[in-house]
Amino acid sequence: RFHDQEQLWLFGYGSLIWKADFEFIERRPARIRGWSRRFWQGSHDHRGTAAAPGRVVTLVADPGAQCSGMAYLITPAVFDHLDLREKNGYLREVVPIEFCAGGASEGLIYIAGPDNEAFLGDAPDAAIARQIARARGPSGLNRDYLLQLADALRAMGEEDPHVFAIEHELLALGPLTQQ
Ligand code: BEZ
Repeated sequence: RFHDQEQLWLFGYGSLIWKADFEFIERRPARIRGWSRRFWQGSHDHRGTAAAPGRVVTLVADPGAQCSGMAYLITPAVFDHLDLREKNGYLREVVPIEFCAGGASEGLIYIAGPDNEAFLGDAPDAAIARQIARARGPSGLNRDYLLQLADALRAMGEEDPHVFAIEHELLALGPLTQQ
């Protein structure tokens, strides 16, 4: 039914915040309510390998919480590109999104739930940081994914205690753990 619409909003909360390798009409800082961003999804195809999976973010339902990100106004045609991401366990969902500058709309998000094969789930911050520090895949170092996400959130003036705590643990490991 997405292809019946001329334009729609896609809400990015992970790499889509800083890396939009698709055409968009407009982008706006935005948030969604009732979700928290978590480094709970394994990555064996982008930021890790089958032997040493990385960790990337997904969303978990969390009443009372909110998750900030970037909303992109796009045409349905770009989904032919974005649907490739579903290979690693992400599925689309429609949710209400709020623009930080005011206003609201429905939008699409990609979520990797606990029922997908690559899901890793919760672990202590330090353990997540150690795993990220060691992992790399075709899209680059898992470390860079974490640092770019944290930087992008700071640049937007947003707080994310989970992301910032793991970043803190990673930086405490020092530079020699990068591979
Ligand atoms: C995101 O940034 O929202 C995202 C990126 C890749 C896969 C799923 C979600």
